[in-house]
Amino acid sequence: MFKKFIVIIVTITLFITIGCSRITPPVDANIPQDKQTGPQEDQDSSTNPLPPPETENSDTFMLKIGEATKDTISYRDIASVAVLVNKQNELPSDYVPPDLVEVNIPFTFKEKVEKRLMRQEAAEKLAELFAVAKKENIILYGVSGYRSYQTQKSLFAYFTQRDGSEEKANLISARPGESEHQTGLAMDISSQSVNFGLVENFGDTKEYAWLKDNAHNFGYVIRYPKGKEHITEYSYEPWHLRYIGKDLATKLYEEKITYEEYLFFKI
Ligand code: DAL
Ligand code: ZN
Repeated sequence: MFKKFIVIIVTITLFITIGCSRITPPVDANIPQDKQTGPQEDQDSSTNPLPPPETENSDTFMLKIGEATKDTISYRDIASVAVLVNKQNELPSDYVPPDLVEVNIPFTFKEKVEKRLMRQEAAEKLAELFAVAKKENIILYGVSGYRSYQTQKSLFAYFTQRDGSEEKANLISARPGESEHQTGLAMDISSQSVNFGLVENFGDTKEYAWLKDNAHNFGYVIRYPKGKEHITEYSYEPWHLRYIGKDLATKLYEEKITYEEYLFFKI
């Protein structure tokens, strides 16, 4: 009888130990989070294409993993226009959006290359945005839309060499897999007034002012706004627009918050 009791206790203890080790990623607190590849490689990408963001009970991220009460499904769904892609949520290297089409807008270049492409819904809404802007004498140009994982890899390598370190480059350029451009939901936009460049003073133009106040009506947000660099973990990029759908874009616009704040802050 006593033997049977011991066997049951040992079995229960083993069960609990194995169960816990399966749901606790082997995170080494001494290695910077962006250098840790183990836990992410272990993810089963067929059921959960994106790992959950590493949230901490700190000043910035107030909710822990699994506590996000808003939109808990679609922000981790790679097929959704609401997918969250940032330094904690990367795309698989072989991910290519299924419905890329050429966006019907003027570009700053002539070549028929991948950066003219976006996912269909985003492309249609961006063409509408450009047409309405034009009617209001706001003339916009597309600079860079879809980028493959390989293109982003080359770009990041270029900025790393130019700026001297990966850390510096990563303030303005996403690591491969971490760029919204790979989703086919982002477009960099410019205007003649800044010589068609992707420059910070695009943020001082009437074209940017129009985008800031109107983009949400077409489902777009300014993804890396001024003053939110500590949250987005990227420098101010007035030119980078992200399609996220009209309801979400309107919420973010009205609350003046980033997508990370919407999902994970107690507001
Ligand atoms: N410049 C943005 C962060 C990107 O590389 O996707
Ligand atoms: Zn961009």
